[in-house]
Amino acid sequence: MRHLMSPLDFTTEELEQLMDLADDIQGNTQKYSQSCNGKKLATCFYEPSTRTRLSFEAAMLNLGGSVLGFSSADSSSAAKGESVSDTIRVISCYADICAMRHPKEGAPLVASLHSSIPVINAGDGGHQHPTQTLTDLYTIRSLKGEIGNMTIGLCGDLKFGRTVHSLINALVRYPNIKFVLISPEELRVPEYIREDVLEKNGIEYVEIEKLEDAMPELDILYMTRVQRERFFNEEDYLRMKDFYILTNEKMLLAKDDMMVLHPLPRVNEISVEVDDDPRAAYFKQAQNGVYIRMALILTLLEVGVC
Ligand code: NCD
Repeated sequence: MRHLMSPLDFTTEELEQLMDLADDIQGNTQKYSQSCNGKKLATCFYEPSTRTRLSFEAAMLNLGGSVLGFSSADSSSAAKGESVSDTIRVISCYADICAMRHPKEGAPLVASLHSSIPVINAGDGGHQHPTQTLTDLYTIRSLKGEIGNMTIGLCGDLKFGRTVHSLINALVRYPNIKFVLISPEELRVPEYIREDVLEKNGIEYVEIEKLEDAMPELDILYMTRVQRERFFNEEDYLRMKDFYILTNEKMLLAKDDMMVLHPLPRVNEISVEVDDDPRAAYFKQAQNGVYIRMALILTLLEVGVC
């Protein structure tokens, strides 16, 4: 039995297979519509979510399975003091696979150690968000034809943004990737990412503050929101929240084929006027999340196509 805690739980070859499967699902949805008949996905979300939870549920429903779960800690027995390990032992009796989001780093990992069904980390605190990374890699591959040989700008809250941490972890395994890390001083990527991931793997990167300076050289711009819920005080959040706003004017500085990604939700960091730019790919990215999660569920459940 396999769990998914980090994008590194899959080799790059396995990721290619997963993305090939997602491509096939996208082109032949009907073929997969009964693949998970009789199977149940539990979504255990102790933190807010729109895309991740609903795309997981849509994925399972598209596969002919069913879904159950909770969407906030308040509506689960966590509010009564139940531990994650007890909860997952019980959920293991009700479902075949579980996607879990939790504000505490490592909580889905703890769950996986006490689970008799596959557990998927659907975001743990400011740590990792592997299924967003699968979505991001799949979107990059669909847009650019390959993953590698590109300069990627990551912009915004690089300190608390778990999508950024997971994506960097995953991308360092691909050839000739250069990062431009664009953030205010206070929101730089954590030291462990710089030292243990980027430097250890000999990856070229620069850290800068001004988005405009980076724009002309980027092949991908990955925008992120400032993670309000992880700030220690509201004052700091208010000071940081509008640090970056991508506008049509700034888009003029970019290459004609520079694609803009964002895990969403967006707050102010991408002006809505950019949505009409053909290089804005974030809504397509959200749609891709369903196909790659369908591929992931099939893979972890070891289900063949009916
Ligand atoms: C992200 C998350 O939850 O980390 N959202 C998502 O799953 N698409 C990004 C965010 O909340 O900023």
